[in-house]
Amino acid sequence: MDNKKIIFATKNKGKLKEIQAVLSDTFDVISMEDAGININVKEDGTTFEENAVKKASEIMKISGKLVLADDSGLEIDYLDKAPGVYSARYMGENTSYLIKNNKILDLLKNVPEEKRTARFVCVIAAAIPEPHNKILTVRGTIEGIIGYKMQGENGFGYDPIFYLPDKMCTTAQLSLKDKNEISHRGKALKLIKEELKKFLL
Ligand code: IMP
Repeated sequence: MDNKKIIFATKNKGKLKEIQAVLSDTFDVISMEDAGININVKEDGTTFEENAVKKASEIMKISGKLVLADDSGLEIDYLDKAPGVYSARYMGENTSYLIKNNKILDLLKNVPEEKRTARFVCVIAAAIPEPHNKILTVRGTIEGIIGYKMQGENGFGYDPIFYLPDKMCTTAQLSLKDKNEISHRGKALKLIKEELKKFLL
């Protein structure tokens, strides 16, 4: 097996760019499309770990190559950690984030700041083929609170309502570079890079 070649199980070009920015000095990361793989793995797990491991291992079995996959979402403590693993599907896959974010602001109306705690979570799984035949997982998180209104135009998804008290802004008000340095995905990518280096190089 080529120890430096990695397929990242995503069709999202934005995610691929973020991933390449962190890993490309050590690994050669290609998309599923570049690897000639076009399948949809159903994300039917109840944890981020289950979904990431399922995606990585199914695509590793098809390709015989080292595969990374991620699963991420927003946990809001006041809503019993919803939307969590269902973040992308919350209120329906095709519902706009303007509607989803307004709904969350409404559900947390009049809730005091100390009860508005939330975090973005990103789990990355690596499925390493024979002769290693091993699954590694890492978890990156960023803590914040749900703000009282939407702020910022950058980022995507729930960024406009995810407020960082330390920085006095939402993740939608950070540049991509600043967000990657502190984000759940940025942290998980740095962790998986170290794990892979220990394991393979
Ligand atoms: P995934 O692509 O299956 O991991 O879905 C993750 C979902 O979680 C996205 O569609 C967003 O709703 C949410 N999410 C994950 N990371 C972020 C982020 O950095 N900002 C805003 N929303 C996020």
